[in-house]
Amino acid sequence: MAFRLLLSCLFSLSSGFSAEISVFVQTGDSVQLDIQTQELPEFDDLSWKKDKSENIVKYTSESKRVRLHSSYKDRVDFNNKTFSLTLRNMQKIDSGIYTAVAAAESDNNIVTYRVSVIDAVEAPVLTVNSNSSSPNPCNSTCNGSNIIISFIYDSSSCSPEKVTSSDNYILRLSCNGDSIMCNYSNPVSWKTDTKKVNELCTAKTGTYCIHSDL
Ligand SMILES: *[C@@H]1O[C@H](CO)[C@@H](O)[C@H](O)[C@H]1NC(C)=O
Ligand SMILES: *[C@@H]1O[C@H](CO)[C@@H](O)[C@H](O)[C@H]1NC(C)=O
Ligand SMILES: *[C@@H]1O[C@H](CO)[C@@H](O)[C@H](O)[C@H]1NC(C)=O
Ligand SMILES: *[C@@H]1O[C@H](CO)[C@@H](O)[C@H](O)[C@H]1NC(C)=O
Ligand SMILES: *[C@@H]1O[C@H](CO)[C@@H](O)[C@H](O)[C@H]1NC(C)=O
Repeated sequence: MAFRLLLSCLFSLSSGFSAEISVFVQTGDSVQLDIQTQELPEFDDLSWKKDKSENIVKYTSESKRVRLHSSYKDRVDFNNKTFSLTLRNMQKIDSGIYTAVAAAESDNNIVTYRVSVIDAVEAPVLTVNSNSSSPNPCNSTCNGSNIIISFIYDSSSCSPEKVTSSDNYILRLSCNGDSIMCNYSNPVSWKTDTKKVNELCTAKTGTYCIHSDL
């Protein structure tokens, strides 16, 4: 809460400047960074910088010359009309702060992005308890590599339904009729596993009794 308040204060103090925009990119994918404004202040040159140091691209307004950083030039597109920057084949090492700076008598930050490059999630593994003698046959487990939940199926609904990890990975369950779906997601991807519910859990009490008598 305090953090959110602080952010909004910073935002209102720096009116005219943009707040940081958070972007998640899947490893190997491209990302397009736009300047997010129609009206640029007058400038001599415009650059896209990574972590305030490397100039990925520098565009000089008088000569219209575009200069690309040697280590980016094979995987970068700069649009000389919209000034947007497209980076291809993003890797985790490319995570960081990207800023568009228009320079005249002084530098003017146009937009700042916080780019996070993360892998797609691995498929979750849903294991349905099929042991009719276990104390709770309706207890099942879904394993999404960095979150594991054990849950109870109770007349078409699951409990708990959702667990979120600190780094934005989410494991979400939906129990519907005789099937359970486990959906494992992060900001760039999602994968699911679906299984039939243990028949003991969908059956009426009477059926359950007959079953256990056998
Ligand atoms: C923009 O880039 C295109 C393609 O490289 C080029 O043909 C064009 O002359 C450039 N325009 C300006 C204004 O620099
Ligand atoms: C089933 O559950 C019972 C009670 O927990 C246990 O004794 C038995 O070994 C389990 N059977 C299997 C196949 O896991
Ligand atoms: C469900 O099963 C898991 C693994 O067998 C166990 O760790 C968990 O405590 C069980 N939960 C309940 C409510 O029985
Ligand atoms: C959950 O999945 C991960 C990754 O596949 C595996 O390393 C781990 O042993 C699994 N945990 C359980 C309790 O099955
Ligand atoms: C899985 O979760 C993601 C993220 O919440 C969602 O976009 C997607 O539609 C879900 N998939 C299914 C099959 O429900």
